[in-house]
Amino acid sequence: MGELDGRTALVTGGSRGIGRAVALRLAAEGALVAVHYGDDDAAAAETVALIGKAGGRAFAVRARFGESGAVDSLFEGLTAGLADHGADGLDILVNNAGIHSASSIGQLTEEEWERLLTVNVSTPVFVIQRALPLLRDGGRIVNMGSAATRIANHLQIGYTVTKAALAALGPSLANELGRRGITVNTVEPGVVLTGMTAGWTAAPEAMAGLESITALGRIGEPEDVADVVGFLVGPQGRWVTGQSIDVSGGTYLGPIVNR
Ligand SMILES: NC(=O)c1ccc[n+]([C@@H]2O[C@H](COP(=O)([O-])OP(=O)(O)OC[C@H]3O[C@@H](n4cnc5c(N)ncnc54)[C@H](OP(=O)(O)O)[C@@H]3O)[C@@H](O)[C@H]2O)c1
Repeated sequence: MGELDGRTALVTGGSRGIGRAVALRLAAEGALVAVHYGDDDAAAAETVALIGKAGGRAFAVRARFGESGAVDSLFEGLTAGLADHGADGLDILVNNAGIHSASSIGQLTEEEWERLLTVNVSTPVFVIQRALPLLRDGGRIVNMGSAATRIANHLQIGYTVTKAALAALGPSLANELGRRGITVNTVEPGVVLTGMTAGWTAAPEAMAGLESITALGRIGEPEDVADVVGFLVGPQGRWVTGQSIDVSGGTYLGPIVNR
């Protein structure tokens, strides 16, 4: 018996990186998982296949966030996929899909800013709005923020602002939904080895620099984050709501003096 037997979950951006690890984790606990993605059919199919091979249940749903009608497409695909699996209603929503930008204030263009806001903030907001009528009492919402919001880094100013906005949803929504037993939390990873970070973590000096400012002395893996999401959406996470939770191995806590 898994902790999430009989539950349904939607993981946006569930095809790769952190989202894939979350999808695998929730499916391993028994949830039927809708693996959302935008473009990469093969990655989404691979995630669904990995879940199936491990004895879990999942289906893929495509919707390109940023295109008009994306949230409609997501929910059409979600409800159809749930029905195909003899399910309806939603227990867990993980708003994970997101995009990065490494621009300073001087480099940021209006187009880039608009896209960051659309994909990282507006879409999750309207995904939550659309999910609420489906979300059963006792449900869970987890938004994927970033530890970037507490670390001054002038080279990702637009991205940082979008993640701070997403985190700001947590307490107010938690208050609104708490009487239904629904929790709302933000998970804030530090640097995690995924496609999003592959460009700079490929450089050994960048890795060494990141390790040197991280208390636990290494870079995060997607599973490090997925386990925290798994805790929050499972029965043991029932008393945590409205919180932003740093999941960075203690990145940039202050000077490390014992090395
Ligand atoms: N990696 C890190 O170090 C790190 C640190 C802190 C926070 N985060 C946050 O964690 C989340 C996942 O990051 P990741 O590193 O796992 O990213 P990733 O490896 O780049 O994967 C991104 C996922 O989101 C989907 N996606 C991206 N843009 C989309 C769009 N416009 N429409 C629909 N789907 C879209 C991708 O699907 P397709 O491939 O099909 O487009 C993919 O499934 C993001 O919100 C990110 O900001 C990451």
